[in-house]
Formats: sequence, C-alpha cells, structure tokens
Amino acid sequence: MFKTLEWTEAGVVLIDQRKLPSEEVYQVFRTYQEVAQAIKDMVVRGAPAIGVTAAMGIALGVKQIEAADPVAFEQKFLLICDTLAATRPTAVNLFWAIERMKKVFYENFRKGDFAQLKRALEDEAIHMHHEDVELNRRMGRLGASLLPQRASVLTHCNAGALATAGYGTALGVIRAAVEQGKSLQVFADETRPFLQGARLTAWELQKDQIPVTLITDNMAGHFMQSGRVDCVIVGADRIAANGDVANKIGTYSLAVLAKENSIPFYVAAPTSTLDLNISSGEQIPIEQRSPQEVTHIKEARIAPAGINVANPAFDVTPNRYVTAIITERGIAKSPYNESLRKLKE
Ligand code: MRU
Repeated sequence: MFKTLEWTEAGVVLIDQRKLPSEEVYQVFRTYQEVAQAIKDMVVRGAPAIGVTAAMGIALGVKQIEAADPVAFEQKFLLICDTLAATRPTAVNLFWAIERMKKVFYENFRKGDFAQLKRALEDEAIHMHHEDVELNRRMGRLGASLLPQRASVLTHCNAGALATAGYGTALGVIRAAVEQGKSLQVFADETRPFLQGARLTAWELQKDQIPVTLITDNMAGHFMQSGRVDCVIVGADRIAANGDVANKIGTYSLAVLAKENSIPFYVAAPTSTLDLNISSGEQIPIEQRSPQEVTHIKEARIAPAGINVANPAFDVTPNRYVTAIITERGIAKSPYNESLRKLKE
C-alpha cells in the first residue's frame, strides 16, 4: 500500500502525485519552504492531505528554529504559518490545521521550554495524521449505509487515500461499502484539467480491485440519463454554514445533472472542512490556476499559443442540490444551517 504523506526525522515524505500513475516516486521535503512549495505545486493535493502536510511543515519549520530569544522565536513561527497559509486558498482544512498548530504553539510557548514546544508540535502533526485516517474510516462506515447492496457510483476528482492522510472521504465511503460486502461499480470522471480522476482515482481503485470505469467529464450526463448511475459521491474543499459546497471544478454541473435525473448527490467530508464562519458559498475564495494546465497535457500543447484561458480550480454547488453531507460525526441533511451546526458543536 502506498503512503500519501509521512513524518520522518529527515523531513516530510510525500508521494509525488504529479507523476502518478506512471511513476510511484517518494520525495523528502526538508524545510518548511520546501513543504509549502510542494503544496503549491500539487505534489500533494486534496483538502485533508493539504491540512496534515501543512501541520507537518509547521512542526518541521519550528524544529529548525535556532533563535533562543522568545520574540524572535515567535516571529519565525508566525512567518512559517503565513508561508504555509499562502499556498492554496480554497481548502479550509489548510487554515484549520494551521490554527490547530497555533493553539499548541501558544499553550507551550508560555512555559518557555522550546525543546518541549518543538516536541509538542511534532506530536500534534503526527496525531493529526493518525486522526485523519481514523475519521475517514468512521465517515466511510456511516456513508456506506446510504448505498444500496448493488450500486453504480459516480465520483469526481480524487477524494481518496491520496487526498487525505489515508483511506479517503468519497472513496472511503466506497471502500467501506465494499468492505461491508456491497457490490459496487464506480464511474471515475477524468477531471480536466489536472486529471485527478484519470490519474489518481482510477489508479487507487484499480489497486484495490474495485471495479472502475473511466469516463471523460462530458460523458457524465449521458450515463446518468441512461440510468447507469445510482448516486454521485464527491469530496469537498470547503462547506459553508448553509451547506453550499466548494469542490473541484465540474462538481456543480454534476450536481445539477444528478437533480435533473433524480439521482442522490452526496458529499463526504470531515468536520474540519466545515467553515461555519461563512454563511454561504459566495464567500469561498476560488483558486485560479495556471493557463498551462489547460493549454497543455504534460509537455504537449493542445491549444494554440496565445489563446485566452480561464482556469478556476473549484466551483460552488448550492445546498439545494446536495442530498446529504456525510461527516465522521454523522450525516447532515437540509436545512444545513441547523444540521451542520449540530455536527460542529
Ligand atoms: O486541486 P485539488 O486536487 O487539491 O482538489 C481536490 C478536490 O477538489 C477534492 O475533491 C477535495 O479536496 C476533497 S479530497 C478528500
């Protein structure tokens, strides 16, 4: 089994997701700046994985602070946090993880023992890693109860072990259902432009021997209309208090198609993805990525030079299209303002 991310004495080890599925390469990131760059460059991606990696980046950065003076020590810590926070704007798990590390930092900072403080941050990052795998398993078991004994499930992007510390959110639900003896068949959208579906979801499910059919994004409507999809399950990068869901670009179109065809549309995400500080999806910042991702596939140009390109990495699905939100603490349904608040309490 592959490892998405790992804390080691040498630094943070990540499987390079840009190289999958053709090469399974692990790389060590030895400074917090290298970890931040790895998140920016999509070596590691997926909301929960970004959060845990950032926590490890902070632990690594603080471990390497040499200042003995508290003012300089704290300034360096805040610089590390700001550098990691500036990597990707949409997935709230990143900011949630940084806040959690800040809490541990200040609890220990007051005591003045910097060696102990460094250990506490390292322990917290490792704990977040294990916790994420555990909660994905719990979420998976809860979500699996929504699936019939035999089902054809459509998913988008990669919300699997590669997008988390392990097991996955949307793919965690699929894995748990299979473990419970359900007979599933998955349609994986290729997920242009970065191809997380074709490269990562197809790879993960094939490795697990879960039957998977790869389709291009524009085929989803056809398969829904012809009665070959029983439900859609996706992950999320940020969920607003009213249940609006930001996820990989193309998710909104799938949700509309699902409603049109009376197919349940499920979102699986840990409570760390809930951002109850914002009332609706309109307030979610949408990352704009490089035009190169659209004009090229790997090194090959597929569009004329100089063409205008738009490349928003995420879209927002209004809550009215979401049948249920599966979390590790329970399954929320509309009205989401109430159900999500109860889960986050
Ligand atoms: O740009 P990415 O690959 O980081 O986007 C990932 C997604 O949109 C996932 O669906 C989301 O983070 C949930 S992952 C459990």
